[in-house]
Amino acid sequence: MTFTLAHLSDIHLSPMPRARRRDLFGKRVLGYVNWHRGRKFVHRRDILDVLTRDLVEREPDHVAVTGDLVNLGLPEEFLAAAEWLRHLGPPDKVTAIPGNHDAYVRLHPDHGTGHWRPFMEANAPGAAIMPTPLMDFPFVRRFGDVALVALSSAIPTMPFIAAGRLGPTQRAHLALALDELGRKGLFRVVLIHHPPLPGQAGWRRGLRDARALKKVLQEHGAELVLHGHDHVQTVHELETATGPAAIVGVPSASEAVAGRIPAARYNEYRIDKVAGGWRCDMVGRAVSDTAAHVWECEHRVLVKP
Ligand SMILES: [Fe+2]
Ligand SMILES: [Fe+2]
Repeated sequence: MTFTLAHLSDIHLSPMPRARRRDLFGKRVLGYVNWHRGRKFVHRRDILDVLTRDLVEREPDHVAVTGDLVNLGLPEEFLAAAEWLRHLGPPDKVTAIPGNHDAYVRLHPDHGTGHWRPFMEANAPGAAIMPTPLMDFPFVRRFGDVALVALSSAIPTMPFIAAGRLGPTQRAHLALALDELGRKGLFRVVLIHHPPLPGQAGWRRGLRDARALKKVLQEHGAELVLHGHDHVQTVHELETATGPAAIVGVPSASEAVAGRIPAARYNEYRIDKVAGGWRCDMVGRAVSDTAAHVWECEHRVLVKP
């Protein structure tokens, strides 16, 4: 039976709540100015709503959101994003991970990503395979033959820096999870905000330990790696010990059509267990030029035996 997984990223949810003076410190001051000078014209709520209406109507089996749900990390933004996640579906049908904008400033989880907790934790079949480590990531969610391994590359950084990092503990747990899921013959989907391969993003925006992550993926295998952060559609293939892994970046889900190319898009993956392995098709769904509807902009076979 086909499992359909929808992937969207870089929501950059608007409208921006009015910021209190005491909340505007450090990196947020620059971000606040940037938002009102330009970013709010790029990331638009009406575009996002057209896209998510299409997604919800198509009733995928599961939805993955790979970070940058908010912009400046204001407490009200996290509450609004929790509400937005609930509108996508119940927590057992929606998985979220944080991006760099969700760690914009150091914040106690109770005032930040803690509001997304039901969407950001293992499910029982996943925890049975690999219990979530104390640091909360990676967590595993299993749905029959398909398993999601959710990472957090979100770290607070200095202004003008949008880099990410997993760290050795998370990478070690990822290796364990990939081995265990591979032994069970499951289709392994890794979720990460930053592009996972070295060189995909520059020093200021990239994953600091991309080289080490690449090695983990090569040695332990995965079928699909989904990420955001760059706000563009990209597809790479990585040879691993268990066969090729498809690595796909998706554009921002809220990027205005009249803004930069490409426009808002999400991808739908149709995963099937077939004789001799897996087949996985990717269908791109993008907002039209007039922003009136969503159309199928791409269909390609990503994985086949
Ligand atoms: Fe982003
Ligand atoms: Fe990002």
